[in-house]
Amino acid sequence: MKITYYGHSCFVVNIGGKNILFDPFITDNPKNNTTKAEDIVCDIILVSHGHGDHVSDVEVIAKQNDCTIISNFEVVNWFGAKDVKGRPVNHGGTVDLGYCKVKYVNAIHTSSMPDGAYGGNPGGFVVYTDSECVYFAGDTALTMDMKLIPLTCPKVNVALLPIGDNFTMGYQDAAMAAQFIDCDQVVGCHYDTFGYIEIDQEAAVKAFEAKGKTLHLLNIEESINL
Ligand code: NI
Ligand code: MN
Repeated sequence: MKITYYGHSCFVVNIGGKNILFDPFITDNPKNNTTKAEDIVCDIILVSHGHGDHVSDVEVIAKQNDCTIISNFEVVNWFGAKDVKGRPVNHGGTVDLGYCKVKYVNAIHTSSMPDGAYGGNPGGFVVYTDSECVYFAGDTALTMDMKLIPLTCPKVNVALLPIGDNFTMGYQDAAMAAQFIDCDQVVGCHYDTFGYIEIDQEAAVKAFEAKGKTLHLLNIEESINL
């Protein structure tokens, strides 16, 4: 599958012949001065939780592409009031989109909307076809719940994991998360966007190497096939 990084936790993953956009935060991202939210082409948007650094470009991109968002009930309702189409899910639920399946899985974090409205509980997504599977963790701590993923989902080929610490797990815990989910290929996210989450990238790569895992750190708009 082809994975393109737009900074922070925003990715487009091409899987099942469709573009799946995760957690769009582009216009307000101080580290992304190249991408225009209006230029993102996607078939669906998956939103892990309500925080501004994950949702700030949801409305414009959803309307531009006339596409649906999938998120928890509260996030979907909040965007529904802005005339954004949504499919609500809750933890443990799987949606069959035809070209792929999307399972909403647990995350340890918080969730509120940019205006302070209740944002439900945060989650991550496991997205899979008959031949490929990607796990997008969202914002989360390391959690034993990750051990359920290889027991309940197809083999995860690629995991998109936060590594920036402070608001999520750091890279040491993320390397352990890769073990919990039994995945060798990880793309890091939620690091170096602003002060609290700056990391030593070389040390992060080595932490994964020490566990026999590969951590990929992509530049803005860089793509990788995994
Ligand atoms: Ni968050
Ligand atoms: Mn965040």
